[in-house]
Amino acid sequence: MSTTVVLSHPIAQHFMVALRKKKGRTNENFRRDMHRIGLMLAIEATKDLKTKSVKVTTPLGIATGSCLRSRQALVSITRAGNGLLDAFLQFLPEAYVWHVSVSRNEETFKPDFHGSKIPGHVPSDLDVCYVLDPMLATAGTACLTIQLLKDAGAKKIVYVGVLGASEGVATLTAAHPDVQIYLVAIDEKLTAKKFIDPGLGDAGDEQYPTV
Ligand code: PRP
Repeated sequence: MSTTVVLSHPIAQHFMVALRKKKGRTNENFRRDMHRIGLMLAIEATKDLKTKSVKVTTPLGIATGSCLRSRQALVSITRAGNGLLDAFLQFLPEAYVWHVSVSRNEETFKPDFHGSKIPGHVPSDLDVCYVLDPMLATAGTACLTIQLLKDAGAKKIVYVGVLGASEGVATLTAAHPDVQIYLVAIDEKLTAKKFIDPGLGDAGDEQYPTV
């Protein structure tokens, strides 16, 4: 069973406070801070990627180094996941990018599935899928997405979020013990309407408001 990694880096924690803070919040600032945290999550979540040894010609001679040798997929759960997608693409510009459209039903709190651009069968050169969504509340949305990936043949899946609820972490871990989870903070409570409490608000609305 994978353990959940909670980023303890002081800068990640600093920007977590910025994301939570209501006073002075603007969509621009929220997107910027989500991107900053996304960069740090990308560094941490990719630290075990496979590499290959290479030689490179410098202006003076030959140096040895290592390059990435695996292919990744970045799976953004819209809307909120798109804020992490930009950050991951900074470091993995050649990754596959797949979108999953899911929204949580406001009455049942279950995920409503609208569609996905995950291929029917994942490509043969795929190593790891990073599922990107800042908020892990009940984990219904994450579990639905991970099952789609497994049904398409994905073998290695990593969930990358920002804020999780204890309940959601437990549910996701129980349903998919093989999936490594990365977060920046975990809150103990969910409200009666299944919002993470004290949380940070609605990461989709805060980044990409409709009006
Ligand atoms: C939020 C959040 C997750 C989901 C988490 O999205 O971004 O996708 O809810 O809830 P769960 O763990 O209980 O399933 P929402 O459905 O509000 O859509 P949005 O990203 O468009 O705001």
